[in-house]
Amino acid sequence: MRNDKLDNLTIKEEFSKKGLELDFVLGSFPSTQKYAKTLNPQKDTVIISLSQTQGMGRQGRSFLSNEGGCYFSIIKNAEKDVLRDIPLMSVALSRVLEKYGCACQIKWPNDILIKGKKICGMLCDVSGGKSVLGVGINVYNDISPLADIATSLYAEEIYDVTRSRLIAQVIYEYYLLREEDFSIIRDEYQSRLSVMGKEIKLVWNSKAYQGKVKGITKEGFLIIDTSKGETIFMNGEVEIVK
Ligand code: BTN
Repeated sequence: MRNDKLDNLTIKEEFSKKGLELDFVLGSFPSTQKYAKTLNPQKDTVIISLSQTQGMGRQGRSFLSNEGGCYFSIIKNAEKDVLRDIPLMSVALSRVLEKYGCACQIKWPNDILIKGKKICGMLCDVSGGKSVLGVGINVYNDISPLADIATSLYAEEIYDVTRSRLIAQVIYEYYLLREEDFSIIRDEYQSRLSVMGKEIKLVWNSKAYQGKVKGITKEGFLIIDTSKGETIFMNGEVEIVK
């Protein structure tokens, strides 16, 4: 916590160290995702909040967003390969957290785990030609309400994180990955995929499917070898059965 700073000046410095040319807005927003969706900026812009009172998760769930974490949403043009956003951000987050000494696993489709517990969640919304990619990272925030299922960098004994730097590192890595060939990212993604090669149950739209995970498509969809042959899933809740 020694060098932690999340203020306009430090964010500006950290973005500039990484050569990031995005605009940013720092504030206390109920949800950066909701706020970002009301904007239509000329250039890519990051909305950062110190905490959120209405943090949004997948499937209409809420996302714990108390003081001490990193909560941000990137607004950008929705390119045709917007579906890659979450897989790219998953790899970006994993690379950065690993630099802090944390081995990461990707819980398809939207979470990053450390030792089986969630440290990050992501969300991507597309509307009106814009996409909003939201990221929440548990850093110093109190995760005790979710202690069984969540962790934070602090809980993993990583005490010296500057949140402005962490946000800049993640965004830098994400933009770098966007330039790379997806086959490289896919291999890296699959090497961290928590369900890779495992027998899983997937529930989507109140239907349950079971099979062995073969990997992901270039769009980040999950490929499962079910009793009906290889099936591709865009979304769902997964659980390892064996
Ligand atoms: C999930 O775990 O289901 C997705 C969580 C996404 C949380 C981030 S925090 C920043 C952005 N603003 C929100 O309201 N949600 C996303």
